[in-house]
Amino acid sequence: PSVRKSKQFICTISDDRGDEAHYCGYPISSVATPDTGFTIGDVMSILWFKKRYPRWAVDFLETVLKTVADHGPAVSGAHNAKVTARAGKDVISSLISGLLTIGPRFGGAIDDAAKYFKYASDNGMSPNDFLNHMKKEGIPIPGIGHRIKSLKNPDLRVEGLKKFAKANFPSTPLLDYALTVEQLTTSKKENLILNVDGTIGILMVDMWRSLGYKDEEIDVFINAGALNAFFILGRSIGFIGHILDEKRLAMPMYRHPMDDILYDVKLAENL
Ligand code: ACO
Ligand code: LMR
Repeated sequence: PSVRKSKQFICTISDDRGDEAHYCGYPISSVATPDTGFTIGDVMSILWFKKRYPRWAVDFLETVLKTVADHGPAVSGAHNAKVTARAGKDVISSLISGLLTIGPRFGGAIDDAAKYFKYASDNGMSPNDFLNHMKKEGIPIPGIGHRIKSLKNPDLRVEGLKKFAKANFPSTPLLDYALTVEQLTTSKKENLILNVDGTIGILMVDMWRSLGYKDEEIDVFINAGALNAFFILGRSIGFIGHILDEKRLAMPMYRHPMDDILYDVKLAENL
């Protein structure tokens, strides 16, 4: 009997044996330069999802990346990246410190928005049922709410993504459902808009369904965190920009002004 050495790793996306490495069957030279017709979105679609997507879907992936690339210096991640750079740390450390803030409140609500809105719409929940369901879950609805954006100060990134989807997607049933939920949440509080995370998560589900993916396949992506990865990748562009900005400006170490801290310290009790 032939004795095969068991393998410790499996790789189904790229192959570096031979003269030139391949991305999912495509030699790098056949995707890297503009004349190949491959864009960065095509490379993402083959390395992340192992399929070549039609142009409208690739354009959507790129639209998402460009949309989330930066949102100014004040947001959690850019702030962390800037403070770390000013503490004298290198690009990778500063970038990681920014990325670590991406999570359920900031930039990392995309997978959960897809998960909960999909669940609600698949189960025929009315917006009111959905709100009650989320109350029972005990968490804010992922993909709803913004610190500074509201009905009066709409998030134009969200408007842009919705406009792109309406013009280019075959259909957008989950977005249409999410907009009915947004009507209810904004009637309670005007900053409870469908935010950029929510819009991306919901539109990714609409994109995948239009591309013929089965629900079980979409759930695998969501459970793997594939949707937050769009924010992680896109916002890394902005974080690196902020870090380079700090280095270029040779900014000194940051120390938070003490008059902006409420010190409320009591003598520790003896037990
Ligand atoms: N669902 C239900 N109620 C909400 C939600 C929500 N998603 N967000 C806020 N509220 C309610 C709160 O319960 C609170 O109600 P109360 O006044 O009766 O106690 C009120 O609105 C204010 O809540 P805060 O947490 O103080 O709202 P804030 O404006 O600070 O929060 C945030 C903004 C963190 C985005 C919040 O809306 C949230 O957690 N949303 C869900 C997570 C999410 O989608 N994050 C991504 C944002 S986009 C991005 O980061 C790129
Ligand atoms: C972002 O994209 O960083 C935001 O929507 C969060 C914010 O507060 O601007």
